[in-house]
Amino acid sequence: MPCTIVVGAQWGDEGKGKIIDLLTGGVDLVVRYSGGSNAGHTVHIGNQKYVLHLIPTGILYEGKLNVIGNGVAVDPQRLVEEIMSCEGRGLKVAGRLLVSDLAHVTLPYHKRMDEAREAKRGAGKLGTTHQGIGPTYTDKVGRIGIKVGDLLDEEAFIKKVRSNLEAKNHFFKSYYGVLPVTEAEVLEPYRSYLPTIKPLITDTVALLRDALARGQRLLLEGAQGTLLDVDFGTYPYVTASNPTAGGACVGAGVPPSSVTRTIGVAKAYTTRVGTGPLPTELPPEEDERLRIRGREYGATTGRPRRCGWFDAVVVRRAVAVNGLSELAVTKLDVLDHLERILVCVAYRHRGAELRDFPNRTEIVEACEPVYEELPGWQTSTTGVRKWDDLPARARRYLEKIQELTATPISIISVGAKRDETIFV
Ligand code: GDP
Ligand code: IMO
Ligand code: MG
Repeated sequence: MPCTIVVGAQWGDEGKGKIIDLLTGGVDLVVRYSGGSNAGHTVHIGNQKYVLHLIPTGILYEGKLNVIGNGVAVDPQRLVEEIMSCEGRGLKVAGRLLVSDLAHVTLPYHKRMDEAREAKRGAGKLGTTHQGIGPTYTDKVGRIGIKVGDLLDEEAFIKKVRSNLEAKNHFFKSYYGVLPVTEAEVLEPYRSYLPTIKPLITDTVALLRDALARGQRLLLEGAQGTLLDVDFGTYPYVTASNPTAGGACVGAGVPPSSVTRTIGVAKAYTTRVGTGPLPTELPPEEDERLRIRGREYGATTGRPRRCGWFDAVVVRRAVAVNGLSELAVTKLDVLDHLERILVCVAYRHRGAELRDFPNRTEIVEACEPVYEELPGWQTSTTGVRKWDDLPARARRYLEKIQELTATPISIISVGAKRDETIFV
């Protein structure tokens, strides 16, 4: 089993962190491949809670090597803060974390741009995490980005920063009406974080090639989710990278032929943080109740997550674009109390029933979900460890998900802790 991809099957925050942590025991390396500090992956170990943003979740597992791949937008300042925070909690980072020299860096002007663009959009804002993600990837494809490897050559780095600031500051002042970013705002932090980051910078393409050649097993850690993918998501209400399985190979620098398993993580319901359509969104009162039960508040921004019923149209899209071999269904326990549970099986649009997720966001916005109602099990599942011990109605609900997505469920999560899990 050389490479396993773990990918979000909905709009992010599906519980990937917990699932990755469960699987880390069986691999040698964990590689983050997309996004940046917009991600927030939560893992509970014993009575300790950890939230990781840029560092792969494998850092919580002793003896595992962790790689930040070339597809990640690396904010060096946030990375150093996270390393300090991990070390402050007794986690050994030195020698266990490497960063691709090909990854692009997020600098203060990317964050300023993210905020300025959102402010300019006003009511039509995307609800980004303000972490500078969009502007970092914009510069990458615009071929004016600065790579992690560029940090090693101060003179060349300064030259690139200077040239970028000239153009950015023009826009900041004359178009966005915000304060320009000074050279010192970029260079002072650079000089303070460089000593921490320098030893981590590596050719991770060669490193992973050699690891695969030695027969080591890799776990490719997805951030965000399929419906936030810049190609397959609800554009423009998406992130700026490809969190989907194809993006895993590009963003880690491993060949598609090395992938043997692709696990899609889906909540037993749906959530979304930020703006954009959410066809199964609950009415305010029910939304609030589920949010409180599921503790649905963003791990990065603390924003309340919008909640909705399980949407099979969404997860079928995830199955299609990622080639999911299996599903990990999380947070089943959050539905334990419900008398009845709705599942969206299709959308209705102008009298037609749609089974496939519409590519035009305007159509998604105009769709009505077609629901099937299932009876709730109204008993706690948190203590259950075996499929056969689940209430019959919970099994029926999960079987319905398998049937609607034509994908087997291999893991069921019934609580945030490591052991609150059922392997099917
Ligand atoms: P990620 O971004 O996909 O890693 O997910 P987040 O960490 O942002 O959000 C998932 C939240 O659900 C975290 O607070 C987890 O601790 C929590 N969680 C994960 N699995 C379960 C579960 O099965 N039941 C409950 N109640 N909470 C869970
Ligand atoms: P994890 O890895 C949930 C959302 C933002 C916003 C949109 C664009 O924890 O699942 P960005 O800052 O990326 O430009 O914001 O994407 N978003 C996420 N939502 N989980 C995430 O990551 C997210 N990363 C970005 O809320 O709607
Ligand atoms: Mg998250």
